[in-house]
Amino acid sequence: MESNLLGISFAGLSLENPTILASGILGYTAESLKRVAKGGAGAVVTKSIGASPRAGYPNPTVVQAEAGLLNAMGLPNPGIDVYSEEIKYAKTVLRVPLFVSVFGYSADEYASVASKAVEAGADAVELNVSCPHVKQTGAEIGQSPKFLSEVVEKTKAAVNKPLIVKLSPNVADITVLAQAAIEAGADALTAVNTLKAMAIDTETMMPILSNVKGGLSGPAIKPVALRCVFDIAEQFEVPIIGCGGITDWRDAVEFFLAGASAVEIGTAVADDDEVFRTICRGIETYLRKKHYGSVKEIVGLAHRK
Ligand code: FUM
Repeated sequence: MESNLLGISFAGLSLENPTILASGILGYTAESLKRVAKGGAGAVVTKSIGASPRAGYPNPTVVQAEAGLLNAMGLPNPGIDVYSEEIKYAKTVLRVPLFVSVFGYSADEYASVASKAVEAGADAVELNVSCPHVKQTGAEIGQSPKFLSEVVEKTKAAVNKPLIVKLSPNVADITVLAQAAIEAGADALTAVNTLKAMAIDTETMMPILSNVKGGLSGPAIKPVALRCVFDIAEQFEVPIIGCGGITDWRDAVEFFLAGASAVEIGTAVADDDEVFRTICRGIETYLRKKHYGSVKEIVGLAHRK
């Protein structure tokens, strides 16, 4: 029998492979999560869920950028009480771990939503402390070591499942926020959410997004995300999920070499929901060619002096 080169143990969870659906794409319904899992993802993350229903911003909410996607949806979601039913259903149809992305407007709210998500069946919680454009949540919390510590500490005390903190790249030094999250009890970090950005229409001479500013994802941000992972891995021994512009196996391998143990894929899934399987095949071929016995063996190798 062939050995599984791609299986990983991540923050106490077993994943068949290190590719994970990033929050925000195809993550609303159990059926869409199932479709992504069928495409080969090792785990899936839901769209961010808050304490109560939120409509999000009016259109336009998405703009195609030169090498990526600019979006400002405004965290639309049905609220955790309604979404709990979807989590329960998702657990009956998914054979891969389900991470629930959570946001709130206070530490207590983050903790309460996370606790309800775990009660409904979430295998892990990913804290969205990095959405770059919704007021009083997301990056407004995650850019402050003090607020971030409070949120992580309270949420950690409220859940008995792995707690993953998704960091913002829109900061001067991401290691300061990584340290705050780790010291407050984070089991793992995701680096990174989108880069704050905008687009202007030359005909109307106005910003295109209804919210004016949004978050840029896709290949345009890959070098920034990679640098963030490298910076964190250089200082801390925490499990890291690399996220930002991963579209093929080579991108994924770059993130492993920088220090990520797993990768999240978002924008590339919009074009191809088999992208996970394709990337996994490429990683596997690379590992065999280089004579490595598991993906774990290449994590952080770019840090050799
Ligand atoms: O607009 C949104 O829902 C985006 C969320 C995020 O970037 O975290």
